Amino acid sequence: MSSFDDRAATWDDDPGKLQRASEVASAIRDALVLDGSQRLLEYGAGTGLVTQALRHLVGPVTLVDTSAGMRTVMLAKIAAGAISDARVWDLDLASAPVPDERFDLVVTVLTLHHVHDIGVVLSKFAELLDEGGRLCVADLVKEDGSFHGHGVDVHHGFDRSELATALTAAGFIDVEFRECHDIVRDRATYPMFLATCRVAGLR
Ligand SMILES: C[S@@+](CC[C@H](N)C(=O)[O-])C[C@H]1O[C@@H](n2cnc3c(N)ncnc32)[C@H](O)[C@@H]1O
Repeated sequence: MSSFDDRAATWDDDPGKLQRASEVASAIRDALVLDGSQRLLEYGAGTGLVTQALRHLVGPVTLVDTSAGMRTVMLAKIAAGAISDARVWDLDLASAPVPDERFDLVVTVLTLHHVHDIGVVLSKFAELLDEGGRLCVADLVKEDGSFHGHGVDVHHGFDRSELATALTAAGFIDVEFRECHDIVRDRATYPMFLATCRVAGLR
C-alpha cells in the first residue's frame, strides 16, 4: 500500500488542496484555449480535483493514478455524478507501454517529481498526444528537499531550464512557464510553476 492509498479518503478534506487545484486549473484556463472538446488525460490525478475544476471546459476525461486508494475515490465521484464522462486507469508510464489511444491534452500536477526518469514519461506523454496536443505540467519549483523531508527519493522540484530541456528532448515545443500557486507548509512557502507546451508536428 502506498502512502497515497492511506491519504486518499481524506485528501479532499484539506481546504489547501482544494484551493491548489482551483488555482492550478485557473492557470491552465488562462494558458490554453479550451473549447469543451479536448480529450483530457490527467496523469497522477489523485482524487481528480484538477479535472473537476476543468470538467466543463474539456471533452471526455481519462483519470490515471497508480494508487488504488486514489482510484477508489475517483470512481466514487464518477458514480455519484461529480465527474461526468470519465474513466479511471491504473497506468504507470514509467514502466508500461503507451496505450493505443490518443488525447488532445495531458495534465499532470505534483506527480512528475515522484517519477524517477522523467524523460521516459515525458516521451510517453508526447506519444499519447495527437498532433498539436498540449501538455500541462504543474509542479514544485526547485526546493531544498524539505517539502517531503530528507531521505525521501523524489525530485526536489524542478529547475525551469532543466525541465524545458527535458520537454524539448521528449518532443515538445513552445514551452512556457508561469507561476500558478504557493504551497505553505510548516511556515515555509513552496512555489509551484505551470509549464505548458505543444507536441511537435508529425513524428
Ligand atoms: C502529490 S499527489 C497529487 C495528486 C493530484 N494531482 C493533486 O494535485 O491533488 C501525486 C499523485 O501521483 C500519483 N502517482 C505517483 N507516481 C505515479 C506514477 N508513476 N504514475 C501515475 N501516478 C503516480 C500518486 O498516487 C498520487 O495520487
